[in-house]
Amino acid sequence: MNAVSVSAPGKLHLAGEHAVVYGKPAIVVSTSLRLSITLEKSGKGMLLAECRKHDAYVDAIVRVFEKKYGLTVAKDIDIGIHSAIPSGSGMGSSAALAVACIGALCVWHGFPWNVQTINDMAYQAEKTKHNTSSGSDPAIATHGGILWYRKELEFLKTLWLLPFKVPKTFAPFVLINTGRAESTGELVSYVGEEKKRNERTFAVLLHEIEEVTKRVAQSIHDENEQDFRDAVKTNEALLERMGVVSTRAKDCIRDIEKAGGVAKISGAGGRVEGSGVIIAIHDIPRRLVKIAKSHGFPSFQVILGGEGVKMEQVRT
Ligand code: MEV
Repeated sequence: MNAVSVSAPGKLHLAGEHAVVYGKPAIVVSTSLRLSITLEKSGKGMLLAECRKHDAYVDAIVRVFEKKYGLTVAKDIDIGIHSAIPSGSGMGSSAALAVACIGALCVWHGFPWNVQTINDMAYQAEKTKHNTSSGSDPAIATHGGILWYRKELEFLKTLWLLPFKVPKTFAPFVLINTGRAESTGELVSYVGEEKKRNERTFAVLLHEIEEVTKRVAQSIHDENEQDFRDAVKTNEALLERMGVVSTRAKDCIRDIEKAGGVAKISGAGGRVEGSGVIIAIHDIPRRLVKIAKSHGFPSFQVILGGEGVKMEQVRT
């Protein structure tokens, strides 16, 4: 094998983040922003062996692969990592890295292209980052599209590729990157501790999130944008009650609401500084760009529903 290139998409949580860690459903959608891994024997790039020494996560991903197949990955392979997914923003860059890397290693070693196996290994790798991972991030990076995802039990995860798209008639989402100081693992642990301290309050909260996640699915299915926006707003309020939205992010979201729009964090959020990427919706999207700017946050747009893990290049 001379060169292999595999890519995987970033994602947005439309609803149900955090609750999905506790067996509730989530809706995740892939985006047009992708991360690609190239493995080759050019001797010109960074050696995978070196990369493993400096990046514990890449090392963990390769270890999962080595363990699964009982082999040792050769030391003379170069690795190239190119990503358009903003890291630490809640857009699934870690999961895309695991999925693309596992996919590339499978092709490099001549194993069959099996997306379920790639997903399983990426999930194991992600668990080295945060042990209670729901698996929703690797699942969407693997399958793409819009997924209804639920982790019933550790060995039983149900996922349903929704046979529809976010309707073209809906105003385009504007993504506002508020930055983030904490890791996903830290935020998931925070929620876990709070849940332990307030089991009853959390049971109600998780139930309300489940209901709103169903409303998001229903409104997309019915192409009912008003219901969709109401559900997004409610989901944000519930995430704020959970404590995963920072003051800076809330201030920006309140301004969007005052201007007649809605917005929610997407993914793990953030308590200290920013809360990662915010999904913002308004009839006049450029007003969102202005509001983001007034808070010092960059904004951008993506195409939703990108393809899942994909073999880009194989040179034998
Ligand atoms: C992170 O992108 C989504 C969380 O729900 C964690 C998980 O699902 O593992 C916060």
